[in-house]
Amino acid sequence: MTIYLNGHYMPIEDAKISVLDRGFIFGDGVYEVIPVYSRKAFRVAEHLLRLQHSLDGIKLANPHSDSEWTGIIDELIARNAAQDQYLYLHITRGVAKRDHAFPSPPVEPTVFMMSNPLLTPPADLLHSGIACVTAPDNRWLRCDIKSIALLPNVLLRQMAVDAGCAETILIRPEFVNAEFVSGGGFMTEGAASNIFVVKNGKLLAPPKDNLMLPGITYDVVLELADANGIPYEVRKIAVAEVFAADELLLTSSTKEVLAITQLDGKPVGTGKPGAMFAQMYALYQDFKRDVMRV
Ligand code: PDD
Repeated sequence: MTIYLNGHYMPIEDAKISVLDRGFIFGDGVYEVIPVYSRKAFRVAEHLLRLQHSLDGIKLANPHSDSEWTGIIDELIARNAAQDQYLYLHITRGVAKRDHAFPSPPVEPTVFMMSNPLLTPPADLLHSGIACVTAPDNRWLRCDIKSIALLPNVLLRQMAVDAGCAETILIRPEFVNAEFVSGGGFMTEGAASNIFVVKNGKLLAPPKDNLMLPGITYDVVLELADANGIPYEVRKIAVAEVFAADELLLTSSTKEVLAITQLDGKPVGTGKPGAMFAQMYALYQDFKRDVMRV
């Protein structure tokens, strides 16, 4: 596997960074995951825009212009063998003596990119759907930043794995006048995915605010809903609506669109992938094919 590190392409075994890198010491950095289909990066402009938003959020200057990023992305795709890949792009605030405050003057950021073969969900998973658990969303209040500091997401995802499930759906607790509302709360997203609710033929999506990552796949799904006359609403989704859903959908760059057919051990709707999933999955595959053809 060939990776990119600070201006150089090399075998992953040769890649070395300092133990003083602020990514290692503080988790002080941001990342992107970009799918590549038939050796073409998907929605690059949108991923680079979100990267800029994340960099702005942590007050780190973008080390590259969009055309430089595109050059690195294309070169890395060319140097790796798989037709379908996923690129992991990672920028940290660089190497400096350990001190919480930013290094002054700033140091060179660390820029790392790797490619792995992209394995989209197999047919049996598309047919069965996945099982999820719910958990309180105990992350910080800037979940719109794609931060490399993922310990809360790691712990939340592990809860799903420990329960024999695929993902954890996060419920942000609700407070009224600083009082915790028992049984209240709103669904934000998955530990590493976005979540949609389907009720009475309508797609419900939580708003892209500071409490969730603005997913690139989430945007594609809403664009496809728009273009195909599928009714949808973007608004806060109460926890009770999640449990009363006819269908639940999960989206991410690596999982694309999946049906969630079990939640906390109980069936979602009929317990089988529903009509909205079937339609959205097909639309997404068609969209992908069209984009890759041009
Ligand atoms: N994760 N929300 C969170 C917390 C995520 O980590 C991700 C993606 C998403 C979906 O975003 P997108 O559609 O742009 O992939 C939502 C990536 C795949 C990861 O960390 O590996």
